[in-house]
Amino acid sequence: MSLVVIVPAAGSGIRFGAGVPKQFQPLGGKPLLQHVVERFLLDDNILRVIVAVAEPLLANVKQTPGDRTSFVAGGATRQQSVANALAAAPEETTLVAIHDAVRPFFSNDVFASVVAAATEQGAALPVLPLNDTIHLVRNEMVVQSVDRSTLAAAQTPQCFRIEVLREVLERAEREGLESTDEAGLAAHFGFPVKAVGGDSMNFKITRPEDLMLAELLLKEWTK
Ligand code: CTP
Ligand code: MG
Repeated sequence: MSLVVIVPAAGSGIRFGAGVPKQFQPLGGKPLLQHVVERFLLDDNILRVIVAVAEPLLANVKQTPGDRTSFVAGGATRQQSVANALAAAPEETTLVAIHDAVRPFFSNDVFASVVAAATEQGAALPVLPLNDTIHLVRNEMVVQSVDRSTLAAAQTPQCFRIEVLREVLERAEREGLESTDEAGLAAHFGFPVKAVGGDSMNFKITRPEDLMLAELLLKEWTK
């Protein structure tokens, strides 16, 4: 197994709405992106961590020979950022995990489960059942309720055999399909995608209140 991790970190964090993009916001005094990259680097099974950052930032990145992190220019969409990072994967790569730069609380167990499931089935992601009742709402009016038992919230890290991810991204590009979730695209193209149990601690920092929650959680959280 030659496992590479892609961390898309080229977003501008519109919903977070700060001057500095959320992946560079401090959590316990350290940028979110750094938390995530350092966690992956602790794992000796990971060949390389490829981080996609906004192009203008590339000039500020210091690359030391021999380190296992590389930086590439991200794209206008998350999908494009992932595709750019994938293009930089070393030739021997067999498995690719993709993890949002803004999910610092992923668990080693869930990561191991998606890697194992993707090795077997080609693609895997962690999902969470929805707790709230879900409505279809249009123009601030409830249209109808949706049966939540058929729905799941997608998380990362997601994992793919490299040939599956390559084909999924190439087909999506050819067909002009855009998604914030490669696992969903893979399923759309008919690949088997294993959904493993996710973890509610592994929430995505999307809005300022998520970061406040993360600060509180950091003190208690164990991997
Ligand atoms: N991302 C990326 N390239 C983009 C857009 C997003 O690499 N063009 C990354 C983000 O940096 C983040 C991850 O994809 O690590 C998940 O995306 P999201 O939470 O949506 O972040 P943003 O797109 O930055 O936020 P928003 O959608 O609120 O603008
Ligand atoms: Mg986004």
